[in-house]
Order: sequence, then C-alpha cells, then structure tokens
Amino acid sequence: MNLIEQLRSVFRPILAKRVEDESKLLGYLGMIRPGQNPDLADYQANFAMPLAKTLNKKSPELASEIISELPKDGLIASANLAGPGFINLKLSDAFLAQALSQIRSDDRLGASRASSPRKIVIDYSGPNVAKPLHVGHLRSTIIGEALHRLLEFRGHQVIADNHLGDWGTQFGMLLYGYKNHLDKAAYEKDPVSELARLYKLVRKLGEAKSDEDEGDTANPVVQAYRQETVKLHQGDPENNRLWKEFMPACLEEVHIIYRRLDVHFDHELGESFYNPMLADVVADCLKKGIAQESQGAIVIAENEKSVSLIRKSDGAYTYTTTDLATIKYRVEHFRADCCLYVVDFRQGDHFKKLFTAAKRWGYPNIELTHVSFGSVLGEDKRPIKTRSGEPIELNELLDEAIRQGREKYEASRSEREERGFRVPELSDAEIQEIAEVVGLGAVKYADLSQNRTSDYVFSYEKMLATDGNTATYNQYAYARCRSIFRESEVEELAFQKQNHPVILGEPQERALALQLLRLDEALITAEAEYAPHALTSYLWEVSKALASFYASPNCSVLKASSDELKNSRLVLCDLTARTISLVLNLLAIRTVERM
Ligand code: ARG
Repeated sequence: MNLIEQLRSVFRPILAKRVEDESKLLGYLGMIRPGQNPDLADYQANFAMPLAKTLNKKSPELASEIISELPKDGLIASANLAGPGFINLKLSDAFLAQALSQIRSDDRLGASRASSPRKIVIDYSGPNVAKPLHVGHLRSTIIGEALHRLLEFRGHQVIADNHLGDWGTQFGMLLYGYKNHLDKAAYEKDPVSELARLYKLVRKLGEAKSDEDEGDTANPVVQAYRQETVKLHQGDPENNRLWKEFMPACLEEVHIIYRRLDVHFDHELGESFYNPMLADVVADCLKKGIAQESQGAIVIAENEKSVSLIRKSDGAYTYTTTDLATIKYRVEHFRADCCLYVVDFRQGDHFKKLFTAAKRWGYPNIELTHVSFGSVLGEDKRPIKTRSGEPIELNELLDEAIRQGREKYEASRSEREERGFRVPELSDAEIQEIAEVVGLGAVKYADLSQNRTSDYVFSYEKMLATDGNTATYNQYAYARCRSIFRESEVEELAFQKQNHPVILGEPQERALALQLLRLDEALITAEAEYAPHALTSYLWEVSKALASFYASPNCSVLKASSDELKNSRLVLCDLTARTISLVLNLLAIRTVERM
C-alpha cells in the first residue's frame, strides 16, 4: 500500500499521452510529492511547469487540461490548480478508509518489499576490541543496526559483518602491558577489567594523545609496544598465543554492549581474519598493474594526489590492504551485490580511494557505499569527552541514560498525578524496565533522528524530553493506544480479526488515517538514502497526529456516540500502536505496554 505509487499510476496514462520517453515520464511522475500544506493538499503534482516548456504550452493551461482528464471516482477526491501550475490533490475518504481496512489484516501493515532484492553486506560498529567501547562507537553501531533491520524488512538478504579491529597496535599495547605490568591475581579473577586497566595504563605511559593516536616513537614505551605488534604480525609464537588468550575477554567486553543495545551480527570477521590473505592481495595488485613500488613500499596511485599504501617499506600491510582483502572475500565468498560501510566521515578519503582501487582491481559491479556520519558533540560543541578529557565509555553512558530516564519518568508520573490523571500502578521492577526502555531508546533515537551526516550535541535533557521528536514521545503514544484498549475492555488480538468499517468524519481522524497509510513511503525513502531519520520523522508525524486525535473532544473513543464510531476509532488506535511498534523495532527501540 503506497499512496504515492497509487497516484502515480492514475497520472501515468495521462502523462504517457504527452511524454514518450519512459525515463522522462518517470521523472515527471517523481514530481508527485507529499503536500507542503496539509490543509490544502495531501499530495501535490509539480510536473506541469517543466512539462509545459517541452510542449510549448502555458503551464496553468496544461495543468487544467490534465486535471480534467483525471478519473472522477476512486482515489482522488479533488484536484485543484494552484499558482503557476501546481496541482493540489486530496484523496477520497472512502479510499483511505478502505485502504486502512486492507492493511489491518497484514503483519507488515501494507509495507511493500523491494522489487529486486539484493545481497547486502553491512559493515558496522567495527571497534578496536583491545579497549573498552566509547561514545565514538555509538553512531556506527546504532545506525548500522537500524539499516540492517530496515533492509532486511524490505526483503533484501542482509549480511551484518562486524569488521573488528583485532590486529592493530592496540594489541601491541596489551602485549606490552601484560608482559610488564600484569596484576596476575586480577587477571585470573576478571581478565576483561584487567586488560582494560592495562590498555589505559600503557596508553598513559606512551602518552598517546587520543584513542586514534598510536604514540610518539621517541617514547621508549611506544617503541616497545610497536615492537610487540610487529612480532605479533610476524607470527611470534608467544605473542600469537597471548593474542588468542586475550581475544575472548576482549570480545566479551564488546558483546556486553551489543546485548544491551540489542545489536546483532551474522559475522565478526575482524582484521586478523584477513591477515593470511594480505600477501596475495599485494601480489595480485602488482600483477594486475594497479600497484607499483615506490621507495621500497608498494602503493596504489590513482594520480599524484590519491595514493594508498598497501605495503610499507618495513613489510607491514595497512588498513587499505585489509579492506581490499575484505572486498574480495565479500564478493567471492558472500556473493554480495552491495557493501555498505557505516563509518565516521573522517574515513571518507580512505573509502574513496579504496572503492576506486577495488573497481580497478577487478570488482567493478559491486555497489560500494560509505554511509558516512558526523560526530557526537558535547555541550561545548566539541567531540564529547569526560571532564578529564577521556573518551566516555559506552557502558557508563548507557547507565547514565537509564538513571536519568528513570528520574524523568518518575517526575512525569508525579506531575500527571498532581494534575489529576490516573497513572498505572507499577512495581519497582516494572519502573526499572520502563527506565531501561526509555533511557536506551532515548540514546538511540537522538542519534537516528539526526540527518546522519550532521554532527549533533549529546544532551540527556533533550533526548529524554517527553515532548518533541524523541523516543519517549513515541513510546508514550504507543502506550496511550494500548491503554485505550484496556480501558475499553476490548481485547486487541480478537479485535484485530473483526471487520469494522473505518469512518473518517473528523479532520483529526482523517489526518491520522493519512499518516498510517504513509508507512511504505517512509520505508522507501529511508532505504533510498540509507537514512534512518526518514523513519523517525515519520514516527513523529504519526505520534503528533495521534496526539491531536486524542486531544480532540470530537474524537473520544470511549465516549463515542455509537458503537460503529467507537470501533472505527479503536481501529485507528490499534493501527497507530502497531505502526509505532513496527518502526521503533526497525530502529531497535522497545516499547512498554503501560507507562
Ligand atoms: N576498526 C575501524 C575503526 O575503528 C573501523 C572499521 C570499519 N570498517 C572497515 N571495513 N574499514 O576505525
């Protein structure tokens, strides 16, 4: 069920009489869009101006001509000329009502599947696992998981792959720490915390300035841990044995976070997995003539400005070499049609060069896309840090979101009680459950609701607001729909199977109905742009429409003037709850039944 597509199919034969070229025709049909002003138009068609030019006509006349050719029954209730040739369209209430009845019996609520499903690898999260996850890993993990769920829901075959940094200098740091500063008893008791402590200690000793900084080679500790990394890569048995020993603890550390965030991967093929393939990658690039020697190193040079190192003069392979091996593996082993890299914008240059090199190397047909995103900023508008300048650890950040989520929820309960509203009786465990759902949902939603390429300021206050485009706002809308069912003592599952005509008498009912029918449009936009924020914007529209409906004295559900009207309104509530929960679930955000 896609309203825009339905409209396009009404306009298609009318335009086809005037436009022969199919791709031009599609271009004009693409100019049918949601209305700017919902009072005037549900949708508007903007093709008359450009089309009139090619036909040597005046655009208002052409628009009027086209309006007169529109079929009079069915989908469109009114089509009006506006301005220089815009066509404002209102859909018929009967059509909307019937469409709602149709999607009620569908678990997908009328959402379509991609017409040509693809095999898509999504590469997201990819933390360096020798150290605790920090706030810098948040966006890739959250955006990646949302795209994973969205694309799967759209019918694609998705392979979620966590390209772990499990082979870099950070492991040299752990090896150095282990050999020189280990607290044996602590390690035996809790290897995860002891390794985290060692990592931080060695970082301090090496005076590495940031998490990405590998330290100044003038520092003897840095020299020593780099040496440990080289030994690891060259196959030193002890370092390799220790690496194997560390890995489960390192992985457990990140898996704890994934469990909390409800994030799931099909594979975790980290950098180490590709290590045995790197020598062949370099040899093959040389053989195919896309790489050459330069001052003892091997490089792929697109031109003077765009050069990637694939083997350093000391023989070490690079991030690019590993990524080339990864692309080869994904094409040859997974048979992927598309590979999405959900990675920080700062790696833009790396991916640009990588993709060009991969195409020249022998993979011209795969779609390679850098799904780039901006930074998470602190209140001072600089990349977020703790007071002492350390990156904020993700576990602590999530704990704090839940703590503040609880505070906010309890405050809103008291406020509602003071204003004379009923609040649900809940046990402490239930309140804690709400705090988790609200707190974690807020963190995810705040991130996803940004245009992903922009930076955003991380603010618990803003993300937990009960009003505005937040997770909580949608979670309340969901819970409200559910409570209406409880209060009317109607059991949803049984109700869903009953046939009840939808009556769209009030403007708020109609506005809500229209939003409920726009789910597919939102999903398609989100997929086309790899943009989860198209889903949050949509949710916000649905929840706002519910709020107007709920607030309108003419739309009372429980005190509706007839059973028909009451049932029709219950249909709207049921569909609203199901829509919100479906979309929130695609964003890995939970709901609660009462709050
Ligand atoms: N481990 C990398 C980092 O922390 C991210 C990996 C992204 N994926 C990739 N195939 N390069 O920056």
